[in-house]
Amino acid sequence: MADDDAGVREPLTELLRLNSYRVIAVQNGEQAFEAACSQPVDLVLLDVRMPGPTGFSVCRAIKARPETRFLPVVFITGLACSEDRILGIEAGADDFLNKPVKQEELLARVSSLVRLKRSTDELENGETVLCTLARSIEAKDPYTEGHCDRLSRSAVSLGEKIGMPREVCNDLRRSGIVHDIGKVAVPEFVLLKPGSLDAAERKIMEVHTIVGERICAPLKSFRSLLPVIRSHHEKQDGSGYPDHLKGEEIPLTARILQTVDIYDSLTTDRPYREALSPQKALEIMREETLRGWWDANLVSALEGMLAESPQTLSAANV
Ligand SMILES: [Fe+2]
Repeated sequence: MADDDAGVREPLTELLRLNSYRVIAVQNGEQAFEAACSQPVDLVLLDVRMPGPTGFSVCRAIKARPETRFLPVVFITGLACSEDRILGIEAGADDFLNKPVKQEELLARVSSLVRLKRSTDELENGETVLCTLARSIEAKDPYTEGHCDRLSRSAVSLGEKIGMPREVCNDLRRSGIVHDIGKVAVPEFVLLKPGSLDAAERKIMEVHTIVGERICAPLKSFRSLLPVIRSHHEKQDGSGYPDHLKGEEIPLTARILQTVDIYDSLTTDRPYREALSPQKALEIMREETLRGWWDANLVSALEGMLAESPQTLSAANV
């Protein structure tokens, strides 16, 4: 907790310690930021006006770091300062406590926010495990190195290009990493085979969509990614897998990821051919679209995006 006024800081620290919390009490914004970043902390209590950086800038800095962005921040502010509340919300505050702080209110808020922080930690751990697994599968194949991160970025760019809301773009970002996680069940002689797969091997490879969905299904926060994981190999004419969906039956997020996935695989080196130029890749994708495979609107949007900024999807742009 950070407050330059010892008359506020000391009693609150004492109360929290009496209730079995470990408290780091500091007197200015700089020390508060340092404490929040240098050790595991479950909650930050911040005064608004302190010597050095204000509580608002400390809060903004905490929320800007990926490692601390889910760390709850509570402002201790005067009841009459409605302007402070607005600024605090803009800075990313999770809650406010009015001065003078009531004991029961402080303990209730602290307890619920600490509980929330711990469940976010568990959630993050689950996501981290799955993302690490996805990257370890990618690492098996030198030809697909960097593929997941690139797909993540390009799927978001295409999503933004066609006006998808922020949550959908966030799903696209995570799908880029985990969409092929089911390849963990595909034996290496199939996964790493340099040439094209025979019918039996293709059947084995196709299972990765269903296995991937099964691996991610227990994680609540991955629910919205399941349609991408399951359906990113479907084709417009129903000749894809695993469900032979057609046209708009194929979830839009799966079609977006699929569009950038195909472009990426055409424009990177494979064991059986060198990377194709963007022009050649688009030409092939247009032909395959006419054949009834890909979403024509998305392929056009991709072309538009590449025309505007050719570097967006380049393999070098990792
Ligand atoms: Fe796949």
